[in-house]
Amino acid sequence: MTTASHPDKLRLGVNIDHVATIRNARGIRHPDPVRAAGLAVRAGADGITAHLREDRRHISDEDIASLSDVLSVPLNLEMAATDEMLEIALRHKPHACCIVPEKRQELTTEGGLDAAGQHNRLKHYVDELVRADIRVSLFIDPEKDQLDAAKSLGAPVTELHTGTYCELSGAPQAEELERIKTATSYGATIGLEMHAGHGLSYDTVGDIAAIPELKELNIGHFLIGEAIFHGLEASIIEMRRLMDEARA
Ligand code: PXP
Repeated sequence: MTTASHPDKLRLGVNIDHVATIRNARGIRHPDPVRAAGLAVRAGADGITAHLREDRRHISDEDIASLSDVLSVPLNLEMAATDEMLEIALRHKPHACCIVPEKRQELTTEGGLDAAGQHNRLKHYVDELVRADIRVSLFIDPEKDQLDAAKSLGAPVTELHTGTYCELSGAPQAEELERIKTATSYGATIGLEMHAGHGLSYDTVGDIAAIPELKELNIGHFLIGEAIFHGLEASIIEMRRLMDEARA
């Protein structure tokens, strides 16, 4: 996403995957994730994030094509490191691609990418995306060796997995927060742009948003769920307010 207008603003990427999950439950066209993306932008989203999974369980190829055509803000395409996804990314040239691990049976992205262990396999995908001028992000756990691997792969951005933090409570949660803070600070020191996401809600966003080196949060499931009760725009406006409050 562009940083030109507000270099210090913590950007909010709204993930619209689960609008497509609801649509696909009926196999019809409603609710349309592209329409949701428009509403999200109106409510203050700085970018739209969509995960085209290999099994197409939510976002479809057509959604990515439509988002690429109509969005007025940057599109962050989440994708597995496969030849098929690389071809789709190179065809649509989104602003950013976040490479995530993908297991067919998982309910959601469980754990970060093993950038250190899969260095050789990932290199080709990172290189091709960077060459196409797409901002590459690697979704990793908050660990130093993963950050070092992301840096040596030439990815300009990493997104830290906040899912564990969001699921814990009490002292273990405080420990996980420290791990995220340390990793964010280390990543920024070695020149990575630092993002975070997964599992964030009104209850958990504040401590993460307060980490000064973070430039972007990507949030989806909670916002789409909350939209059932309060509407999508109101839910995004409240999330944005909590992020701004934490930064202030
Ligand atoms: N960031 C990444 C890399 C993800 O894979 C996801 C889930 O698709 C998210 C952020 C958003 O997570 P959630 O839907 O739990 O807010």
